[in-house]
Amino acid sequence: MRSLIDIKELSVSELDSLINTALDIIENPKKYSQKCQGKKIATLFFEPSTRTRLSFEAAMYELGGNVLGFSEAQSSSASKGESVADTAKIISLYADIIAMRHPKEGAPLVASMNASIPVINAGDGGHNHPTQTLADLLTIKRKKGRFDNLTVGLCGDLKFGRTVHSLISALSRYEGIKFVLISPEELKIPGYVKTDVIEKNGIEYVETTDLAGAMPELDILYMTRVQKERFFNEEDYLRLKDSYILNPQKLENAKKDLCIMHPLPRVNEISVSVDNDPRACYFEQALNGKYMRMALILMLLGIE
Ligand code: CP
Repeated sequence: MRSLIDIKELSVSELDSLINTALDIIENPKKYSQKCQGKKIATLFFEPSTRTRLSFEAAMYELGGNVLGFSEAQSSSASKGESVADTAKIISLYADIIAMRHPKEGAPLVASMNASIPVINAGDGGHNHPTQTLADLLTIKRKKGRFDNLTVGLCGDLKFGRTVHSLISALSRYEGIKFVLISPEELKIPGYVKTDVIEKNGIEYVETTDLAGAMPELDILYMTRVQKERFFNEEDYLRLKDSYILNPQKLENAKKDLCIMHPLPRVNEISVSVDNDPRACYFEQALNGKYMRMALILMLLGIE
């Protein structure tokens, strides 16, 4: 039995295989519509979500399976003090696979150590979000056709943005990747991501506060929201929240085939006037998340 807690648990060939399955699902949805008949996914969300929870649920329905779960800690027995370990043991009695989001880093790992069914990390605090990375990779594959030789700008809250940490981990395994890390000083990428992932893999990178200066060289611009829920005080959040706002003027010097991504939700960091730019990929990215979650459910349940 296998879980997915961190994107690096998937090899490059397994990522390729998941992407190929997702592409086949897109082409031949009927072929997959009964693959999970009789199976149940439990979506255990201790933190708010729109895309991740509902795309996991849509994914399971489109595979012919069923869904149970909760969307906030308050409506579960966690509010009475039940541990993550006990919750995982109990849900293993009712479902075939778990997707868990939790504000505490490491909670899905604890769940996976106590469950007797696969556990998928659907986002743990400011740490990791591996299934968002699966959505991101399918988007890059469909837009760029490759993962190597890309200059990838990551912009915004690189400190608390868990999607950024997982995406860097995944892309660091490909040749010719360059990261341009664009953030305010206070929201720079954590030291462990820089040393243990980027530098360890010999990946070229620069850190800057200047989005406009970086723009012309980017193949991909991955915008992120400043993560209000991870700040210790409101004052710092208010000071930093609008550090970067992408608008059509700022895109004037961008490549014609730039791919603009965002894990969403956005607040102000991408103006709605960018939405009709053919380079805006973020809504398609959210749809790609559903296909990759379908592929992942099949893989972890051992269904061909
Ligand atoms: N991208 C993402 O994780 O969105 P949700 O918080 O809505 O699930």
